Amino acid sequence: MRIPESKVEEIRSAANIVDVISEFVQLRKRGKNFLGLCPFHSEKTPSFTVSEDKQIFHCFGCHAGGNVFKFLMDYEKISFVESIEEVAKRYGINIEYEGSETSEKQSLQEALYDINTIAARYFSDNLLNHPDGEVAREYFQKRKIKLQSMRAFGLGYAFSGWEHFVNFAVEKKIDLEQAISLGLIGRNNDGRLYDKFSGRIIFPIFSPNGRVVAFAGRIMEKKETSAKYLNSPESLIYVKGRILYGLSHAKDEIRRLDKAILVEGYMDLISLHQSGIKNVVAVSGTALTEEQVQLLSRYTKNVVLLFDADTAGIKASMRSIELLLKKDMEIKIASLPQGEDPDSFVNNFGREKFEEIIKKAQNFLEYQSSIYESQGMFEEASKAAEAIRELVKPAALIGDELKRSLLIKNIAKKFNLREKMIETELEKALTITGKQITAEERIRDRALAERETEVSVEQAKKASPIIYNLERELIKLLYEGNEEVAEFISMEIPIDDFSIEAHSQLAKIVYEAVNNNEELITSSLIEKINDEKLQSYILELTFEKYPISKNWEEIYPGDSPEVIIQKIAKDTIKKFKIAKIDLKIKNNRKLIADEISQEEIFQLLKLNNELEKEKLLISQSN
Ligand code: CTP
Ligand code: MN
Repeated sequence: MRIPESKVEEIRSAANIVDVISEFVQLRKRGKNFLGLCPFHSEKTPSFTVSEDKQIFHCFGCHAGGNVFKFLMDYEKISFVESIEEVAKRYGINIEYEGSETSEKQSLQEALYDINTIAARYFSDNLLNHPDGEVAREYFQKRKIKLQSMRAFGLGYAFSGWEHFVNFAVEKKIDLEQAISLGLIGRNNDGRLYDKFSGRIIFPIFSPNGRVVAFAGRIMEKKETSAKYLNSPESLIYVKGRILYGLSHAKDEIRRLDKAILVEGYMDLISLHQSGIKNVVAVSGTALTEEQVQLLSRYTKNVVLLFDADTAGIKASMRSIELLLKKDMEIKIASLPQGEDPDSFVNNFGREKFEEIIKKAQNFLEYQSSIYESQGMFEEASKAAEAIRELVKPAALIGDELKRSLLIKNIAKKFNLREKMIETELEKALTITGKQITAEERIRDRALAERETEVSVEQAKKASPIIYNLERELIKLLYEGNEEVAEFISMEIPIDDFSIEAHSQLAKIVYEAVNNNEELITSSLIEKINDEKLQSYILELTFEKYPISKNWEEIYPGDSPEVIIQKIAKDTIKKFKIAKIDLKIKNNRKLIADEISQEEIFQLLKLNNELEKEKLLISQSN
């Protein structure tokens, strides 16, 4: 369903982001902006900021941010188009759609959701109400799954046989090709259609907002010949790595407790849920993906991993730990007694004992070193060194300076080593990950470095801090939504003059808009940034509490904001040009200090002389 660009603009400009967000978040006016508790992560002091001028929001805590559409997309877990429709509805704007591929795709998506919903009802009905569902009812009873849980999780049963579901689908006039694409129906070599999940109990898999995107079917008794679980293939509505099983059921509790427990299996999750532990999600058989972490991080930064104690489980934990650290999640690892999984444990020992296990969860340092210990790594000096090196590596992934140094202290203490030694190892690891920067730079670059953008921290380091800061200021000015200012900057500073790749990318977007004579609106400029990390970077910049040029109003008392911003732009451009010349002069001096030929020295001195003159001209201009 394509909505014409002009319509999108019309809807955007009709909407007031403060009104829309206020329906969901209590906002208070603070200076120019509005402030509230972030709905995307759990917090006690408000860091969620909404700008009415710029029609954008940003959270300093979890870095969520964007325009009014982005807010609705994230908050209600809806698509871009849906968010536009929703705003349009609020403001009574009619949308005429342009027919196109997207509209076909949308309606195909809807058709697939419908089929899954009908199928889920059918499976559930088999389990709950049908005489032939008795075997499945017995199975669940044996596994201590209550009726209430079967309903809550939409559990079901697919009759064994060739074509129970196929017949049902025909009767319900379901598009069979679509059912095949969803993996509900198979077609054998003779072209005969058959039930894919035949004889299995069924776990519907839900999207975060509760739509059925796929199914998992488990055999009831052990059979060598068939896989324990059969999962729907990926489809237009199901991308495996983007779904966490149980999230739609768990999200409120995860927010409330600001903590998520990550388990492996469907049964684990359901058993925990029915015993009252509801802040649980399951990775269900695959390695945790970055997208899943991203998804989870919307609800909490605190994760307890609870994987099986077997080697596969340990391996999976290790991998997950790295991924979670990279996203600056707080991780703990809980371990169950040998031979138990969360499902069996909670059924055997009850909720309280389970909660003790969670309470006793170790931080990843304790966890990993105990594993190395059990592998005998600390018995030999050479192996011990290797183990410590391995322990330091994940520390290099942590973006947060404070957290990292705390970890170093802990490692040092635990192994009775000098902190300095650990630091040396860490520096090495950092060099490998390409993140070696000084503490001061790291703080300044946090917005960039934490998110590991290609936004080149390396380059930021190479450029002088002065230039770096001025560039930030220029970018910030470009995104103010002031045409005159943007045009002025675009005429004075060529794209290539930005020394940081991220900055040139960001500048380019505005320069292009200027060239096309577009109206410059912060909230729509932001939408043009394809890279989510860059988007978040610019939001951070736009909302920066202390503008680099201190309090503009104080420096230019009595001027209108329009005039002030123009003066600042002029001033910044000037400073930037001068800083660039200074850098050149400095580099030339360095060259002169090296032992080079008399002739070259002469050339460089002459060059510097000219540069000084140029500098003088710039500083005297107004
Ligand atoms: N899994 C899978 N395919 C398999 C085995 C496992 O997709 N052949 C996934 C499932 O998501 C499963 C999880 O890995 O829930 C954990 O596997 P396992 O511990 O074997 O299954 P449980 O869910 O614990 O099932 P049960 O307790 O019924 O044995
Ligand atoms: Mn199990």
